[in-house]
Amino acid sequence: MANAKQDDKKEVRVWCDGCYDMVHFGHANSLRQAKALGDVLIVGVHTDEEIAKHKGPPVFTQEERYKMVKAIKWVDQVVEGAPYVTTLETLDKYQCDFCVHGDDITVTADGIDTYHMVKKADRYREVLRTAGVSTTDLVGRMLLLTREHFKRGDKEYTVALEHSSNLGTDSTARSPYTGCSQFLPTTQKIIQFSSGLSPKPTDKVVYVAGAFDLFHVGHLDFLEKAHAQGDFLIVGLHTDLEVNRYKGSNYPIMNLHERVLSVLACKYVHEVVIGAPYSVTAELMDHFRVSVVCHGRTAIAPDADGSDPYKKPKERGCFKILDSGNTMTTEDIVQRIIQHRLEFELRNSRKEQKELALKPLNKEHAKQNGDYVHVNNSG
Ligand code: CTP
Ligand code: C5P
Repeated sequence: MANAKQDDKKEVRVWCDGCYDMVHFGHANSLRQAKALGDVLIVGVHTDEEIAKHKGPPVFTQEERYKMVKAIKWVDQVVEGAPYVTTLETLDKYQCDFCVHGDDITVTADGIDTYHMVKKADRYREVLRTAGVSTTDLVGRMLLLTREHFKRGDKEYTVALEHSSNLGTDSTARSPYTGCSQFLPTTQKIIQFSSGLSPKPTDKVVYVAGAFDLFHVGHLDFLEKAHAQGDFLIVGLHTDLEVNRYKGSNYPIMNLHERVLSVLACKYVHEVVIGAPYSVTAELMDHFRVSVVCHGRTAIAPDADGSDPYKKPKERGCFKILDSGNTMTTEDIVQRIIQHRLEFELRNSRKEQKELALKPLNKEHAKQNGDYVHVNNSG
């Protein structure tokens, strides 16, 4: 018992918390950095009720958000329903040495820095926020997608377009094609996210391909099933142009680089093919020694020439349809946003106002004495 305790002491336990709504690679990158500061990473995720109270309704339910965070490969444990304001009691309860957060501002509905207590106790560390992606920005992109998508007709959606004109703080989000994001992908980032593993000669290699746009719980459930089919899971990601060919409209919402990082952050994925051919070729299967090729129960669009993209794996008898048991699609997410567009608009503009009003003050103050900032939310 005493020995076990001593061993426990040696490991550095790190705490992170947040909403983790529409989990994206920015969240994953903050968790990666947090994990690098210690040995064990515990992540507290807030309830829907708490989030609605402090910043507006989340897009994903708490059950969906818990599941998504659990699947990020740097996360060792998820604490469901963690308090919005991080207390020393919470850190102590989970034996965490300190709390880590990105260098952005998180305040309660009353404008109080949610980290004021841990800052004061010098149990707070900051990591760099990933520029160019945030939940707020993604919501903006989706509403811009709505504008593109429904321009040709329906009056109801013209209203959505007018209301959404002040959304999407990332001006480059207007086009989802390569190079459109403010986020600057580097080989370094891919290396940091990559598993660095190669399949062992005895490993059964599983291959799946898709858009994996706005990586969501449906994808996650599918990848969990695909992972269980073998020992080494390779995910092929189609190019932005390819996705646009078969999805149309303004899809994909996330460009290829962003989709690569989202998929790499998933604990079930070992390797990603960046810009995979739409039809699964014999060459691809031979090159990666693929034993089984899987697809979920969603529709399979034909290739540009009208052929079946899974013709080759079917001929080899190694094609399998998997039931993810989840009906969520990228389009569903966009629909959720459209349905709640007014709430999201309000939330976006509030968040921007808070950021504009708080950023210099909060930074300065936090650095000086770790104390909290009280602000008037109205401006
Ligand atoms: N984070 C990050 N880089 C991003 C987005 C989030 O490092 N691009 C970090 C935040 O700094 C925080 C954690 O991810 O440490 C959880 O963030 P969350 O509370 O979910 O908020 P945001 O994603 O910032 O969402 P929003 O823009 O709606 O506030
Ligand atoms: O639509 P997308 O190309 O992103 O899907 C990638 C893979 O995930 C496909 O095989 C699809 O069938 C699967 N999927 C699933 N269940 C969902 C969503 C996607 O099995 N709810």
